[in-house]
Amino acid sequence: MNVKQIMTAVLAGVLSVSLLAGCGNKEKQADKSQPLRVATNATFVPFEFKDNDQSEDYKGFEVELMKAVAKEMGRDIQFNNIPFSGIIPIIQQGDMDIAVAGMTVTPERAAKVRFAAPFYESKLVILTPKTSGINSVDDLQGKQIAVQLGTTGAKYAEEKGLAIKQFDNNSEIIMELGVGGSPAGILDKPVADYFLTQEGKDNYKVIEIPDTKSEYLAFAMNKNNEELQKEVNAAMAKLKENGEFQKLYKKWFNTEMPNLPATTEEIVK
Ligand code: ARG
Repeated sequence: MNVKQIMTAVLAGVLSVSLLAGCGNKEKQADKSQPLRVATNATFVPFEFKDNDQSEDYKGFEVELMKAVAKEMGRDIQFNNIPFSGIIPIIQQGDMDIAVAGMTVTPERAAKVRFAAPFYESKLVILTPKTSGINSVDDLQGKQIAVQLGTTGAKYAEEKGLAIKQFDNNSEIIMELGVGGSPAGILDKPVADYFLTQEGKDNYKVIEIPDTKSEYLAFAMNKNNEELQKEVNAAMAKLKENGEFQKLYKKWFNTEMPNLPATTEEIVK
């Protein structure tokens, strides 16, 4: 073999090794030198959002919390923006490691994915223009209500027998209300409340829904990845201990962090 032949053989060897490494998601998942692959739907202000679709600058409480957790774990992270309804499937397939998506812990979802300790206690509400004449869930009957596909808000609206218009992104719900396509939307209270402190200040109102229970939001991981869950929970506990968690909470919600369960297993039994 001459030098050129040797080089070719070596390169081919390197190539096949890297191809092998690239094709197995499971190996990639276990390889801690690789960044944690985060699945998000960055249309959920103030949890995760971007200033525009092209931006790679992910912002929000949950984004900053995930970054702090990853730092604690000594891992790099890489955010990927996908439709909310695709997040559980992609985590189940092992193509992403962790969901940072304001995801409510429910028994149905807990059967499919593994949740970290909750970071927020939320509730569903109605968001509607002040002039809509809507003041309760009963007022929604016979109207087309805007919801995000695959969310607890969409599920609640369906259970109530409401006519719904579904959107992939939460920001589209707000646009839809703005153009009068739907008279109201059902979504998470902190997101609606935040909108009322921003663009929604003058023209919108939030209506509480008495028959809904509180919902805990948490990061979600693959059912088989108990190790990652342990590491994430340990990092979150550390951030509570050193006060960084509370600081982030205060920064984004302008109120003290309430007591939150230390694991999701305490909520879903
Ligand atoms: N908490 C609700 C749910 O889990 C809505 C979450 C929407 N999240 C988002 N990133 N758009 O169904």
